Amino acid sequence: MSITEVAIPGAKLTSADIYNSAVASWAIAAAWEVGALDELNGASSLDAEELAEKLGLDPVASRGMFQALASVGVVTRDGGTVSPGPIFDEVNTYRSYFHWLSRGCSGLYTEMPSVLRKENRVGSFYHRDGAAIGYACRELSSFSFDPAFWAAMDRLPFDFKVAADLGCGSGERLIQIANRYPGTRGLGLDIGLPAVEMTTREVARAGLSDRITALQADARDLAPHSVFAEVELLTCFMMGHDFWPRENAVKSMRTLRERFPNVRRFLLGDTTRTVGYPDRGIPLFNLGFESAHDLMGQYMPTLDEWYGVFEETGWKLAGEQRIESPAASVVFELE
Ligand SMILES: C[S@@+](CC[C@H](N)C(=O)[O-])C[C@H]1O[C@@H](n2cnc3c(N)ncnc32)[C@H](O)[C@@H]1O
Repeated sequence: MSITEVAIPGAKLTSADIYNSAVASWAIAAAWEVGALDELNGASSLDAEELAEKLGLDPVASRGMFQALASVGVVTRDGGTVSPGPIFDEVNTYRSYFHWLSRGCSGLYTEMPSVLRKENRVGSFYHRDGAAIGYACRELSSFSFDPAFWAAMDRLPFDFKVAADLGCGSGERLIQIANRYPGTRGLGLDIGLPAVEMTTREVARAGLSDRITALQADARDLAPHSVFAEVELLTCFMMGHDFWPRENAVKSMRTLRERFPNVRRFLLGDTTRTVGYPDRGIPLFNLGFESAHDLMGQYMPTLDEWYGVFEETGWKLAGEQRIESPAASVVFELE
């Protein structure tokens, strides 16, 4: 799936284009979550009211959602029917990017005026929805990081019994590892209670509670735990930037080596700060990812900054795989 350019440098966007896209972004996230995108996927045309009824949605509220989707070509409307529009397939593929922004980061962007003011930037000065971010990242990872992740798993030069996932989010990675490697156990660590609860719930749903445990912990400064010595494989996806700025990343990654003395491979996948794109040609997702982290005051390293840190942390770069979307993403294989 290639990505249609959303911004063509030099092309004139109207205020209405921008406004309608903003509304449509919410509608895309919602249409995924309520099941409308799945219903439309592969359909030729559907009766909008019947679709709303099937999904348990208010018909008038649904009309608002479909109108927003139609305003940007995700669907087309004709009388009472709704059909996949010219950019349906692409948007449906990348719906998790919209969900991450509109559902996961809505609190941050809603409070942007307050977040921008210097005097407010102390304590918990912004709010994001950790459960929504976990929901979006589970699917986002499936088409972005997972192919590179599984290729790296296939290259592991050893068998393992215990894997730990830092920033485990929904727990999906550990569930998939446990399913693919029978007899292994998993340990999920996440700073957020909603993520720990989600992992625990999803692990139970997958019938893996006897093999996977989730704990609330800050991966940047892990306190010792007896179970860490059993871990041979460490994974960390879409949170590596939280280790930064540089000085902190060096310290945290050194601490990880001490806390997990028997880890033989550390698979670290993340999106980095893009370099060299013109402002009107920023790829899908990266603008949200970078601006959100700027607003939060969270340092976002470039790929080159990552390369420059490994030696000092004691982790050796044994391999890597670049990822096309999100742009500037990579899976590092560290040992
Ligand atoms: C973008 S989500 C990615 C979730 C998951 N790794 C995946 O691949 O789908 C980032 C996760 O890292 C967690 N996180 C952020 N900072 C953390 C830290 N310092 N220690 C542990 N977890 C952290 C967040 O709570 C969130 O669940």
